[in-house]
Amino acid sequence: MTRPLHLNLYINGCGHHAAAWRHPLSSVEQLGSIAYFEGLAQTAERGLFDAVFFADGQAIGPVADGPGGFLEPITALAAMSRATTHIGLVTTVSSTFYTPFHAARLLASLDHISDGRVGWNVVTSMWDAEARNHGLERMPTHAERYDRADEFVQVVLALWDSWADEALHYDRAGRFADPAGVRSIDHVGEFFRVDGPLTVPRPPQGNPVLFQAGASDPGRALAARRAEAVYAVAADLPSAQEYYRDLKHRILQTGRQADAVPILPGLVTYVGSTEAEALAKQRELDELLPAADSLRQLAQFIGQDCSAWELDDPMPSLVPLGEFTGPQGRYATILQICSTVAGHAGGRLSVRQLLGRLAAGGGHATMVGTPEQIADEMIRWVDERGADGFNLMPPTLPTGVDDFVDHVVPVLQQRGVFRRQYAGRTLRSHLGLARPVGRAPLLPATRG
Ligand SMILES: Cc1cc2nc3c(=O)[nH]c(=O)nc-3n(C[C@H](O)[C@H](O)[C@H](O)COP(=O)(O)O)c2cc1C
Repeated sequence: MTRPLHLNLYINGCGHHAAAWRHPLSSVEQLGSIAYFEGLAQTAERGLFDAVFFADGQAIGPVADGPGGFLEPITALAAMSRATTHIGLVTTVSSTFYTPFHAARLLASLDHISDGRVGWNVVTSMWDAEARNHGLERMPTHAERYDRADEFVQVVLALWDSWADEALHYDRAGRFADPAGVRSIDHVGEFFRVDGPLTVPRPPQGNPVLFQAGASDPGRALAARRAEAVYAVAADLPSAQEYYRDLKHRILQTGRQADAVPILPGLVTYVGSTEAEALAKQRELDELLPAADSLRQLAQFIGQDCSAWELDDPMPSLVPLGEFTGPQGRYATILQICSTVAGHAGGRLSVRQLLGRLAAGGGHATMVGTPEQIADEMIRWVDERGADGFNLMPPTLPTGVDDFVDHVVPVLQQRGVFRRQYAGRTLRSHLGLARPVGRAPLLPATRG
């Protein structure tokens, strides 16, 4: 019997395909309009998704290539919470650039505003360009970023716990709040000094739900210790299973219940009433990619000149990973896509198809087909322990999420693996996570 699966909508501008904004019918002019994002959240809620999710960066790339950012996520989610009633609202907050007090306050406020629907994807950020928007020359080292993230999460949790659930009395003749229920945290650590208490009473969920998406060893270690749900990257089922096994094992080793932490790999879907129609949708987008730019980018990834390559020719053979001297991660993904994905009519993948795959989700899984084919493949990933659900990354928005909600969700429901109504109103409830009861003990005293 398949376990019920979780669905999260990863919202990204006009969609996750790098050329989505170039489509004549794209929503590119609406990226500054909150009505557009409210509509996306309403569609995901109609599809009974657990949550919508925004990634976040602190710098943008070349602006001619497409939208790299627009509305700040927490501000947008506050508005989107007012246009929806049940769906969870997950935002990214970087532990490298915020302070824990700032993060705890914003997220606690949003949890109150939304009546308990907030999740926090804690990231350590990646780019020097981001550091240079925050007073630093370059990013702190990977190890330092994760040490800071660890302390950051501890302090945020302590701040949310600085108000007891029952602290508010609203007693007009007596006390507004019980002073015994509100405490300072008096934290002095390696990175932060925070007295507390928080300026916001305890969030409705106790703590907003903590998500993590790190792939490195310290990233996985942080997820194992702290995450209540995990976003993952896996191009195919074997790599999803490897990650799933490793992370669930690490969670068990920290003394936590591994089943209680859903792992959600990213998933790009092209849905058609026939497989041919789905493939045509994919091809239409791939053809919008500016060829010269994409080939130039590919040349960087694989360390050879591809400017003379014909887009519709089969991909030339590439040297094995061990012989490649450039950055390994992306190259491994490219080799994996070339070796596991068949091209049209079962032949070798064309150059254009590889570029399209890289342009839509990169190393994330891609499923192209009818609603039944996609639903069955998703169920296989869950049955074979590669996933507990998916972080849906539609190549186009809003059409990609419309297709999924109207056609794939009903099949998942018929197969008995997806809810037909929300059982509760908080994100914790959708994810099957318990609400933290009472307050955690204070951090070990750090003051002299
Ligand atoms: C679905 C998903 C969303 C992510 N969103 C962000 C983001 O918004 N901002 C960011 O800086 N990193 C983001 N990341 C990257 C990771 O969380 C992590 O910071 C990065 O992988 C570097 O850590 P690592 O070395 O442990 O992998 C995301 C990763 C995934 C899989």
